[in-house]
Amino acid sequence: MKVFHLSAECYPVAKVGGLADVVGALPKYQNQLGIEAAVVMPFYNRKFTQENEFDTVFQASSLLGSERFYFEILKERTNKLGFELFLIKIPGLLDRENVYEYPDETEQFIAFQIAFLDWISWSQQSPDLIHCHDHHTGLVPFLMNNSKLYLRFANTPTVLTIHNGQYHGAFSWTKLALLPEIDMTKIGLLDWNGGINPLAAGVKCCWRYTAVSPTYLEELTYNSNGMEYLFYMERAKGTGILNGIDTEVWNPKTDPMIPENYALRQLSTGKQKNKIALCERFGLSPDRPTISFIGRLVIEKGADVLPEAIKNSIEAHPDGVNFIILGAGDVKTQEELVALKEQFPNQYNAFIGYDESLAHLVYAGSDFLLMPSRVEPCGLNQMYSMRYGTVPIVRVTGGLKDTVIDYGDEGGYGIRFLQTSAADIVNSVERAVGVYANTALLQLLRKRMMALDFSWDRSAKEYIDLYQSLNPVI
Ligand code: ADP
Ligand code: GLC
Repeated sequence: MKVFHLSAECYPVAKVGGLADVVGALPKYQNQLGIEAAVVMPFYNRKFTQENEFDTVFQASSLLGSERFYFEILKERTNKLGFELFLIKIPGLLDRENVYEYPDETEQFIAFQIAFLDWISWSQQSPDLIHCHDHHTGLVPFLMNNSKLYLRFANTPTVLTIHNGQYHGAFSWTKLALLPEIDMTKIGLLDWNGGINPLAAGVKCCWRYTAVSPTYLEELTYNSNGMEYLFYMERAKGTGILNGIDTEVWNPKTDPMIPENYALRQLSTGKQKNKIALCERFGLSPDRPTISFIGRLVIEKGADVLPEAIKNSIEAHPDGVNFIILGAGDVKTQEELVALKEQFPNQYNAFIGYDESLAHLVYAGSDFLLMPSRVEPCGLNQMYSMRYGTVPIVRVTGGLKDTVIDYGDEGGYGIRFLQTSAADIVNSVERAVGVYANTALLQLLRKRMMALDFSWDRSAKEYIDLYQSLNPVI
């Protein structure tokens, strides 16, 4: 079975968040299970593309509205990621450094999708299934069915995975002419709330959609930034499949990005050494419980409540707790988090920016990881932290609800709270301080977490079962 994953991100080629981690891991595990899974993504001019070798396997030109654009398909030469990696390069459009936030993002992703379909049409490929990820690739299922250019693929099954239903990629009807020739009687399929909405078009036209956790599948029907009714209507087509984590990349036993490797047996000493390195880096004492946050500083992650929550928690525990922030995002939150450093220089510090290896140290060296998310479709941070024996403190939503059991419940290991509010966080910090003071309990929770299995094996198989249900011939 030959499957193409289409995505804007893929670790380690280009990563902004968890989408990259998933698309960098799932195909690798699917290949191990006997599926031929490849990844197709835009070309970005960054470290991975500069340092690796690629062959040009196809080149052609196509149309974006009335503008002709030239594109190349580059294939990474050695399949070093565990799958075939194809990059679509379009000079002037898809050859830049960053993944998102260019003013012509709509044009970039439309051209990406057109180039992909042109490539597989003209090179006579016959994939058994196309797996799209998020709105950047949501027009593909529509075009496969409603453009006479691509009717060859009308019977090829499509799966759309929703990693984040908050972002739809919507644009104005005035840009309709950017799309290739389509059946004008079907343009209603592109519409949602008066605009062209690639995520909505994807949900309507794909054969099946998946959400990245079972709880998020339900949440989409009442919290998806205006698309609730569509998710409610299409619910029968949906499945919730929890993400896994790449247990080769995220392994405290072998992780080259942390100063001290450890397994369950050296848990206390291993974690303590990483904690000392982490606290040294942030100028904090390693003798206190250390609670960290890693992530995009945006409303969905609850980052806006962090400054008040940290302030109130430190005031409740002077000299009794440390906080560390690693993240970047909304300017106001960043400024507030930086300003807090002066107020609590001994108990709090923040690194505003993106740093992959620092993230590994934070997972390994912290005692607790805080995730006050308002929306968390799956969340990988809590799974990474548990793998490193770090107790997650999470708001009960989406994938956090599906992966973290409160230590007060049978067999539990984490700390759960209900609202994204400073008050709920302060209460949870209170509980965390209590856990930390009880060494035997902390050890027990760490052991329970490190014995959990969040590897991709199970989820990769669930996706394959879904593919096979759509294409029983293969
Ligand atoms: P999302 O995709 O919504 O951002 P996830 O929990 O799925 O959330 O994944 C976030 C990923 O991005 C994790 O791998 C996390 O370690 C990483 N990450 C987020 N912010 C940073 C940062 N500032 N520096 C390093 N890694 C980060
Ligand atoms: C999105 C979600 C996150 C999820 C990730 C990978 O970015 O916000 O919760 O873990 O996708 O599926």
